[in-house]
Amino acid sequence: MRSTCLLFFFCLPLFLFSQDIQITNGPYIQRIGETEATIIWTTNNDAITWLELAPAGDDSFYATERPRYYDISHGNRVIGKLHHITLKGLSPGTTYRYRIFSKEVVGYAGHRILFGTIASSEVYSRNPLSFTTLDRNKKAFSFRVVNDIHGKSDNLRAMLNDVKKENTDLVIFNGDMISTLNDEKEIFTGFMDTAVELFAKEIPLFYTRGNHETRGRANSKLYDYFPGSNGKFYYAFRHGPVFFLVLDSGEDKPDSDIEYSELSQFDNYRDEQKEWIETVITTSEFRSAPFRIVIMHIPPAGSTWHGTQDIARKFLPLLNKANIDLMLSGHTHNYKYIDKGEDQNIHFPVLINDDETYLDITVDSRIEVQQKDMLGKTLHTHIINGKK
Ligand SMILES: [Fe+2]
Repeated sequence: MRSTCLLFFFCLPLFLFSQDIQITNGPYIQRIGETEATIIWTTNNDAITWLELAPAGDDSFYATERPRYYDISHGNRVIGKLHHITLKGLSPGTTYRYRIFSKEVVGYAGHRILFGTIASSEVYSRNPLSFTTLDRNKKAFSFRVVNDIHGKSDNLRAMLNDVKKENTDLVIFNGDMISTLNDEKEIFTGFMDTAVELFAKEIPLFYTRGNHETRGRANSKLYDYFPGSNGKFYYAFRHGPVFFLVLDSGEDKPDSDIEYSELSQFDNYRDEQKEWIETVITTSEFRSAPFRIVIMHIPPAGSTWHGTQDIARKFLPLLNKANIDLMLSGHTHNYKYIDKGEDQNIHFPVLINDDETYLDITVDSRIEVQQKDMLGKTLHTHIINGKK
């Protein structure tokens, strides 16, 4: 009886002052492959979380108890405001429905955790959220690319407002989505809240780090929000006929530049990536794919700055012998298409997208790229035929 009173005494102020738990940002889909996916969201208060997964279907989400997946780290369920749930053992090209839950952690009384209320996504008056895993056997698909948004979420909205599951399998953010990352909240206010509202709850998003996202007090937190499949910002994935190689071009000036305040070590980082590229391009998965597309924020040409030169020196000798079909870049805020053979140092086409245009890309037996303005008008079309 005495311990109950004490518990009540300690808990009461916490309940009085705590706000109800709310899902503040997300959910959004990351690190999706053929057999796994990670769902990320945030809450206003500390919470433990879980996700319920159901196969695609017309039955109610409430028809049966759904299996639960938890946010677990080193054997413990995680308490925090940023939540990751990794789903494994999924099937390729398969649609799943999901629902997320966060149960507030109000405080501790000795070894006991005091829980508050639960926030969850809606499945009663709304359809549950859903996503579809990647599938290398899919014959054709479309994806969209934007870059250099620099926190202008209205531009992002204009360029993504017609993205639907029916017409877009995945979206790529090709760097510099924000100018400086001083606070983790800027990830959402700058672009992710808009992305979640428009598509990212249900359509996979792949992130390429730009040079601006390496800057600011919170830059080291970026990976927590956009985890690559191999623990790095450079990673690979396969969907339909395309093997995607996502590279991190790093900073654009020499590491010693005063702008980087002695923090930059990008020359070494690009050496590390060079070794990784060398390994990936020899795999049968890479070599047997009908198409190979490289996504990299800073293009390997068009500038005499150190970053561009270091990329050209370290990455191009490998990529030039790897049968790359297309590289997509940004960074310069100016559209340019460097066709194969136009630059003797690059043995594949490079499309540098503008900051106020997007790329609608369809891949079947060929790659068709349409560069469009914010009104959806096609400005340029490029066709890259498959190799026989
Ligand atoms: Fe940039």
